[in-house]
Amino acid sequence: ALERTLSIIKPDAVAKNVIGQIYSRFEGAGLKVVAAKMKHLSRREAEGFYAVHRERPFFGALVEFMISGPVMIQALEGENAIAKNRELMGATDPKKAEAGTIRADFADSIDANAVHGSDAADTAAVEIAYFFSSTELCPR
Ligand code: CMP
Repeated sequence: ALERTLSIIKPDAVAKNVIGQIYSRFEGAGLKVVAAKMKHLSRREAEGFYAVHRERPFFGALVEFMISGPVMIQALEGENAIAKNRELMGATDPKKAEAGTIRADFADSIDANAVHGSDAADTAAVEIAYFFSSTELCPR
């Protein structure tokens, strides 16, 4: 099915100046950028975005990392976009990520893991709406 998913290029990858290389991977896999913004998240924005992880032991470190520098946020559209983006990203822990994936190539640790991608259709809708108003998304 034609889907949309939320992608974030995290502060580590923005600092490495690889936004374009990561966009090329989206484009090469047939994913289209249908909304995008660069932003330095506030603590409240990062905590709200990752609210499902609030009780996890890594929550504090995750929020600190996500506000350590600007991020690039995009909505991606394509056939099976959610799974396709997760394939491109590779495993959450870059040590376990398959060769050739974004995390294998650009990530340093499970915290500084280069990219975020929605994990399911329901979370994709919530995550896109968290960062983009309907007028900021290209019409379908
Ligand atoms: P992300 O897809 O952005 O979703 C939550 C983030 O928490 C995850 O990527 C990792 O960067 C970070 N994280 C840190 N430790 C863990 C862990 N043990 N399990 C899952 N995510 C973790």
